[in-house]
Amino acid sequence: MSKELKELENLKSKLLTEIQKVKSPKDLDDLKIAFLGKNSSLMSILSSIGKASKEERKKLGQTANLVKKAMNEIIQKKATELEGKELLDKDDSFIDLTKPLWKKRLGTLHPITLITNEIVDIFSNMGFMILDGPMMEDDYHNFEALNIPQNHPARDMQDTFWLNNGCLLRTHTSSVQIRAMEKYKPPFKGIAPGRVFRHEALDASHENTFYQCEGLLIDKNISVSHLIYYMKELLSKVFHKSMKIRLRPGFFPFVEPGFELDMSCLICNGKGCSVCKQSGWVEMLPCGLVHPNVLRISGIDPDEWSGFAFGLGLSRLVMMRYNIDDIRYLNGADIRFLEQFQPVL
Ligand code: FA5
Repeated sequence: MSKELKELENLKSKLLTEIQKVKSPKDLDDLKIAFLGKNSSLMSILSSIGKASKEERKKLGQTANLVKKAMNEIIQKKATELEGKELLDKDDSFIDLTKPLWKKRLGTLHPITLITNEIVDIFSNMGFMILDGPMMEDDYHNFEALNIPQNHPARDMQDTFWLNNGCLLRTHTSSVQIRAMEKYKPPFKGIAPGRVFRHEALDASHENTFYQCEGLLIDKNISVSHLIYYMKELLSKVFHKSMKIRLRPGFFPFVEPGFELDMSCLICNGKGCSVCKQSGWVEMLPCGLVHPNVLRISGIDPDEWSGFAFGLGLSRLVMMRYNIDDIRYLNGADIRFLEQFQPVL
């Protein structure tokens, strides 16, 4: 019987050699029949166990079972390997977890969002609140409370989209000034970036849907020099250099005195182009000291409090910052334009 024991011990290593040659499930089936089937040496050894002595029977039985178990495991392992290979060869949708990832394509933030975030940071660091107001506004907050009563010619300066419900699409972020004065007790300061709407003919610097950023500061003894300090601070922080600006008188019923702050056009470096209408200057930051009537109507005593307000043309500022020569790109949703504004990681 020692001959059978030796043979059993050899079976596993023979199987390990033979299994290297297996290339397909069919090869594997044949091998399984040869090593574990009815006519295999293993089976003939098992069937002859009865003839052995009691001691040898025990030893042979145990060894044969161990060898059978080990050979089954070897065959099962090969079957799993072949199955995986078959999937990889056949199925296009099979995900190979070992493959390196595609280079990730990141989305981009809209340039208006990028600059809004910067402006929010700049003013938050100077203690300003970030204010918000509705885009569908009422006549009172958009006009009346800003010292622009019915039939006032200043209403014509901003062609308005009126809605069937008697409301309007706000023509400027100045409506948020009024809402802030109703809500907060002075002293306070805040900015309100947001979308505004005007029924305007479009050109390189005019959109019917664009962005402004309102600023409002109410405190005691506020003068034009405070206003100019904050305007310069804003522009130098956004452009990282001191900018060529000009201040000229401007009329807005809600400020007195009122100013137009223009910036030298960065698209043409002041030489004249379609954005600045050949003037070399872009209207950017109208501003002024809050009119006493506006303070009064919002419940703030103009004898005690004063303030300044500005209405930054945010869309135009974005154009200057990124050298965009037509405002219509900003609302165009053209992916080729938008994907140029990659986030800085
Ligand atoms: C106003 O809207 C005032 N509410 C601003 C203000 C606030 C003045 C507080 C004083 C105190 P204006 O209509 O000029 O003002 O618009 C402000 C800025 O928005 C302009 O300087 C310009 O940069 C931008 N702007 C105006 N119309 C358009 C338009 N159609 N497309 C793109 N930008 C525009």
